[in-house]
Amino acid sequence: MSQTKYVLGEDAIPTHWVNLLPDLPGDPLPPLNPGTGQPAGPDDLTPIFPMGLILQEVSPDPEIPIPDPVRDAYRLWRPTPLYRARRLEAALDTPARIFYKYEGVSPAGSHKPNTAVPQAYENAQAGIKKLSTETGAGQWGSSLAFACSLFGLECEVFMVGSSYDQKPYRRSMMQTWGATVHRSPSDLTDSGRSQAAHPTGSLGIAISEAVEVAAKDPNCNYALGSVLNHVLLHQTVIGQEAIAQLEMADAFPDVIVGCVGGGSNFGGLTFPFIRGTLRGENKIRYVAAEPAACPTLTRGVYAYDFGDTVGLTPLMPMYTLGHGFVPPPVHAGGLRYHGDAPMVCGLVKAGLVEARAYKQNETFEAAVQFARTEGIIPAPEPAHAIRAVLEEAEAAKQAGEERTILFGLCGHGNFDLAAYDAYLAGTLEDPEFSEEDMRAALDALPSAPALA
Ligand SMILES: Cc1ncc(COP(=O)(O)O)c(C=O)c1O
Repeated sequence: MSQTKYVLGEDAIPTHWVNLLPDLPGDPLPPLNPGTGQPAGPDDLTPIFPMGLILQEVSPDPEIPIPDPVRDAYRLWRPTPLYRARRLEAALDTPARIFYKYEGVSPAGSHKPNTAVPQAYENAQAGIKKLSTETGAGQWGSSLAFACSLFGLECEVFMVGSSYDQKPYRRSMMQTWGATVHRSPSDLTDSGRSQAAHPTGSLGIAISEAVEVAAKDPNCNYALGSVLNHVLLHQTVIGQEAIAQLEMADAFPDVIVGCVGGGSNFGGLTFPFIRGTLRGENKIRYVAAEPAACPTLTRGVYAYDFGDTVGLTPLMPMYTLGHGFVPPPVHAGGLRYHGDAPMVCGLVKAGLVEARAYKQNETFEAAVQFARTEGIIPAPEPAHAIRAVLEEAEAAKQAGEERTILFGLCGHGNFDLAAYDAYLAGTLEDPEFSEEDMRAALDALPSAPALA
């Protein structure tokens, strides 16, 4: 019999998160206060984040202990399974061994609860009563709604307009867990009213709305589902478990693939491995897959920019399409973001991570092939990773090499069936990325020191 699923017991849930910051080459580039141009310190962040998370954001420690109540909540779905994609391998007739770490077993159906839970916990510890946030695909909003329900917090979610229209059941999930959900841009905030000309919304606009709500209410903090160091830190439970599970399979990856929207599932899966790469202990290749309609890593410029659309956040060093860039409404709503995590961008800049961009139809073609062999229907976001995995498997076949490929299947697509309907009906579009819009958005980058 060929083993397909590698499963760990609850005692194997990691006890620490992996902080890659101290291992990164060179000094980390600090976020900047947009008013002063000086490095943003804890004081710049306290209006919207609790100190527990700020300390994690800037920590120089290589490992950070996971608080017991968080680890206890992780037991609801962790450790997540690692699969060997034997049926996909057979269909592709590739000598490659393909493994995937499946995060769709969480209550919300993706990796996002890995950080929603510790964020809700730290805010509850700090006496905060409510969290506000944005959501694209609805995965993050539903994860935070779930986490807030565990720790007795109110939750207010601004959902990107195009996703709100496409995914009514994601809204139902958030409401079931007790959250309030608004279509963004809304008329509830100055930021939303100023963006009424962009009715499909964007993650950047929704972030502006949620940050504004938190900044104006002392009992309310803001929670971000990606991009920031502490979010990527929380996600490293994924890669740590994968290392133990690959050992059970007597395997070690030659290449690791993940999709990147803001960089959190990619960082979570890869950072525990990248630490080894940076220390000279392995020679893994890393591939980041993103949408051709929002090609931040492959087409963006490396510069300081705002994390949101309206300019309320500190400036972050990252690849960006410009904070005012509104990507076309692709179904992978979680990948429609103008920037990416500074830590992931730094690794792309350093040449450690290779980025590739894919069109919507080719990602759904890969997702359907995956569903018809492995069974799980992938979320549109990791469908980008699957597309890259098919290329890697083909390259291994051409080379006649038995390479080991690991990828992050960071969520299921059971609430994304309208997108699958469109693909199967042949009506799914490949929206074009607008060079003109990007140039206009890049002209409006804030003034800040240039990045090398
Ligand atoms: C299933 C899924 N994958 C990926 C992403 C992209 O985010 P990140 O790059 O932070 O993992 C999202 C974001 O909402 C998501 O819901």
